[in-house]
Amino acid sequence: MILASLSENKSIEKRVAITPDVVKKYISLGFKVQLIKNYADHLGIKDKDYEQEGANIINNEDELISNSNAILQMNILSDENLKKLKKNQILIGVLNPYSNEKKLKEVALKDIKCFSLELLPRITRAQSMDILSSQANLAGYKAVVDSFAYFQKAIPMMMTAAGTISAAKVLVVGAGVAGLQAIATAKRMGAIVFATDVRIASKEQVESLGGKFLTVDGAENLETEGGYAKETSEDFKKKQEELLKKTLEKIDIVICTALIPGKKAPVIIKKNMIDVMSNGSVIYDLAAVQGGNSELTKVGEIVDINGVKIMGDENILNKLPVSASNLYAKNMFNFVNNLFNKEKKFFEFNLDDEIIQKTMVK
Ligand code: NAI
Repeated sequence: MILASLSENKSIEKRVAITPDVVKKYISLGFKVQLIKNYADHLGIKDKDYEQEGANIINNEDELISNSNAILQMNILSDENLKKLKKNQILIGVLNPYSNEKKLKEVALKDIKCFSLELLPRITRAQSMDILSSQANLAGYKAVVDSFAYFQKAIPMMMTAAGTISAAKVLVVGAGVAGLQAIATAKRMGAIVFATDVRIASKEQVESLGGKFLTVDGAENLETEGGYAKETSEDFKKKQEELLKKTLEKIDIVICTALIPGKKAPVIIKKNMIDVMSNGSVIYDLAAVQGGNSELTKVGEIVDINGVKIMGDENILNKLPVSASNLYAKNMFNFVNNLFNKEKKFFEFNLDDEIIQKTMVK
């Protein structure tokens, strides 16, 4: 069984799906690993680092694709390379099946099995494969580090002979995986942290990290059975707006992470709320690509609204691609390990396994 991975489109994606560490794990399961030449050169990982672990380097994409049983990627392959896939091959990655529905249907018609890792169920058994969590964790951390670097004042309280500097105040909107990591990172750096979420369960988690939980008076718990957020009512939105507008007058940095699966991100920070923020404040919108939690976010730009800077990267994980690849590659390995029948030495598509059934793109 041969596993392969090709270069990503490096202008938009710096992460890779296979790191040298996981090569030996694949080999110990009985796989061969083949990678395209200069696969992770841009991350400072040389071909010889992969070869030392037992991978083969190939300098021809056509050969690499046609030789392999499964192709492991970060993102979907280019249209040109998708066409080269043949019957019974497997493609695994973050394939974005909603945007790439037509392409993936064509591939499925050729009896090629595609698995999209963002569709993994949030169950205990899938935690080691959970790419949404591993990447959101890093994103939450990096959003804090980047916004703090951009902020023109010190973060922790400092008492000096020349006077006292007060601690920066941070508001985290959405306390899921990214939000909780943002709270922990901001606290560690000495900020005073507030957080809000529509799921009541997150209150305890915020408080256990030392954050102050803000909630709308009399709000019902807007959580689905699967643990995700529901869309808020008009009444809730109005009350949340009043609460946040009052809070934002004293906040220096806002980290936005609120998402609703399969929908556009909720717009929470409106223009009239940004207007009450002090000159020099920073909003980091991690939901930028999903439409933004702030009304004025522009993807890939730093917008200046009367001195308030709004940041929204296209792919924040490209700013720590080595750490992100290390975690992603391990998530991928755990997924492949679950898909592979070790006794019979082939991939088995057991649709009674929720992990396989939910991630398979049909
Ligand atoms: P997410 O990325 O979908 O959303 C981020 C956060 O935004 C969520 O906490 C959500 O409640 C919040 N949010 C949505 N609309 C909002 C609004 N209008 N105002 C304020 N906040 C809003 O969430 P994530 O990080 O994927 O976590 C979702 C759930 O999955 C959580 O319950 C988490 O504990 C659970 N989870 C379970 C895992 C497992 O068991 N394997 C792994 C990771 C997460």
